[in-house]
Amino acid sequence: MISYNEQERIFKLDTANTTYMIGIVDEENFVGHIYYGKKLKEADAAYLMRIDEPPFVPSLNNRERCSFYDCFPFEYPTAGVGDYREGCIGIRTAAGHVGCMLTYVSHEIMEGKPALSGLPATFGDAKECMTLKLVCEDHYVGLRVELLYTVFHEIDAITRSVKVTNIGADHIYLTKVYSACIDMDNRNFDMISLHGSWARERHIQRKAIGYGIQNVSSFRGESSHQDHPFLALVDKNTTQEHGEIYAMNFVYSGNFRAQAEVTQFDSVRMTMGIHPENFCWKLSSKESFQAPEVVMVYTDQGFDAMTTTFHKLYKNHLIRGEYKNKKRPILINNWEATYFEFDTEKLLSIAKEASKLGIEMLVMDDGWFGKRNSDNCALGDWKVNEEKIKGGLKYLVDEVNKLGMKFGIWFEPEMISPDSDLYREHPDWAIAIPGRPGTQARQQLVLDLSRQEVVDCIYEQVASVLRSANIEYVKWDMNRQLTDIGSSGLPADRQGEVYHRYMLAVYQMQERLTQEFPYLLLENCSGGGARFDPGMLYYSPQIWCSDDTDAIERLEIQEGTALIYPLSTMGAHVSDCPNHALKRVTPFETRGIVALAGTFGYELDVTRIPQEDREMIPSQVELYHKYNDLVREGDYYRLASYSQNRQFDCWQVVSEDKTQALVTFVQVLNRVNFKSRRILLKGLDENKQYQVEFVNENSIKTKIYHADTLMNGGLLIPYPQGDFQARLIFLTEVN
Ligand code: GLA
Repeated sequence: MISYNEQERIFKLDTANTTYMIGIVDEENFVGHIYYGKKLKEADAAYLMRIDEPPFVPSLNNRERCSFYDCFPFEYPTAGVGDYREGCIGIRTAAGHVGCMLTYVSHEIMEGKPALSGLPATFGDAKECMTLKLVCEDHYVGLRVELLYTVFHEIDAITRSVKVTNIGADHIYLTKVYSACIDMDNRNFDMISLHGSWARERHIQRKAIGYGIQNVSSFRGESSHQDHPFLALVDKNTTQEHGEIYAMNFVYSGNFRAQAEVTQFDSVRMTMGIHPENFCWKLSSKESFQAPEVVMVYTDQGFDAMTTTFHKLYKNHLIRGEYKNKKRPILINNWEATYFEFDTEKLLSIAKEASKLGIEMLVMDDGWFGKRNSDNCALGDWKVNEEKIKGGLKYLVDEVNKLGMKFGIWFEPEMISPDSDLYREHPDWAIAIPGRPGTQARQQLVLDLSRQEVVDCIYEQVASVLRSANIEYVKWDMNRQLTDIGSSGLPADRQGEVYHRYMLAVYQMQERLTQEFPYLLLENCSGGGARFDPGMLYYSPQIWCSDDTDAIERLEIQEGTALIYPLSTMGAHVSDCPNHALKRVTPFETRGIVALAGTFGYELDVTRIPQEDREMIPSQVELYHKYNDLVREGDYYRLASYSQNRQFDCWQVVSEDKTQALVTFVQVLNRVNFKSRRILLKGLDENKQYQVEFVNENSIKTKIYHADTLMNGGLLIPYPQGDFQARLIFLTEVN
């Protein structure tokens, strides 16, 4: 619901439990932020902008205009004319000047949500959401900025994006454009972010914020392993179940910055947008730039409530396509099974064994094309290597299909190896600074996707492989970050556009792919989980979480990922032991139970694992079929966090109608001579009774308990014997 009080000049944006308020100041038309928080009944809060309070002076007093600019809570702050906090937009005119100030011109309130041209974004119809477009201008510069706010009422989320248009006669350079800002009082906030590294993605970090600027960012050309386009400011006392949270998540997969700036007046400016480093977009007269979308979530009910909101929004209003609400085939991927050493015979031997055990799809990973027998060549040469794939791709796929299995394939379309036919033919197709040898990573360079002919050539290569056989799944990988930014296709004053043009091209390619092959299950990947973000989820319903497949390492990775993203999106496989990344040995059963929290599959040579492990696969497959609807569609709750307690992990999913729930408990290290663990369950119907079944613990009998006892008194989970043990506990409502 969005309303405008014309007399007070206040916009009130309401979701089921929150209110966001924007005010227009006097005749001067500054657009101010009034309030974001728990739902308010009335729109009578304009005083919260404090325009006539010391150290403010009345805004009409031109003598002190600078101090007004420097503390007014701007809805979309600019720079260069007196607000010394970091602004959201930076420009440079043709004459080289940078000052800018935006004031209100008009607005429009509409039902539904307009799409963002060329960009991934959440979507919804007139019943689900409403949008406010605020038009602001700077007449001196000739700049129009449209601020878009969409309210997803039932889901309690608000999305924001920004479109900038040059309405002057001369060109302008856009040197910065963030997508969202909230200027509010600092309440002694903590900051939550997700940090990591390769094989260690999205670990939750919490720290106090202080005066000055603190941010997380990436200018690696992708959202990255290292930082994540997510930031939450939370009350010191916020827990899983209680407390205030202001969260932002960027629907974008490239460079970003998410920032909190605490000011001299104890206000905090929270911003998110494209990283301004090496960004400069030339806008000729009448041209526009569309900045990506930020999702904002406020709750006073702790992390569980924030997570539920993000999960609901992404499941229903971001993920698209055939597999949006569908169970995914259980796959077996040959990467950790064979690396580059495979041929048709080897793949078929894996498929034959896998099909007997109930596995439903074979995925052929890196190494099937060109001369790719190691990772130092052939990216860009997307032609089947028939020395390895004897009989050709169609033969292999048909044989796999005959076993009753689907077939999937790996590509890394954005890359080029210096040792490739493509590079020998088009050395100028790699991103590079002319005259400087490009920095290699994994002995590869990145394709200059800002050039349409490069995009078209690669798309055609990928598509013709997909057209040549019955391929039903693609793993789209991206294994290095960007360096040496330069494009031979762009003039000097457009080199600052390369990063963003690159992202637009990736989106364009994936959109084309999903249009041409609508039945395809697309799984994004980036050296593990370096591009696990809402932007990619718009094209692929699942993303490979991490190259670390160790079940215990996965606990922290999956906890951080599930803080924002639905379990249905988390690529998770059972892999071999000792684990390839870590050399840790964990029980096969535990590896299965941890992978059941994601998309589920195998990444091992099923013909060579120990017999007792192989024998366990059919029962894991059965568990997947029994519980995956619940895992994929249910509400997720965190019951305990290994990342905090360093002893055990526990999470729960509850079906929407609350008739079923599944609890997963993982004990990391055993403790001797202790009593059982008492775990308080969540999300059950408190008026009902539930039958509690310890799925993989034979000695414990099924029992019936009242939901309120389980939620307030708790469930006792006996210490399993041994380290790295996991338990699944299934609850069904009893009538
Ligand atoms: C990346 C992926 C792996 C695998 C390799 C292949 O590291 O994350 O799963 O596909 O590339 O080179």
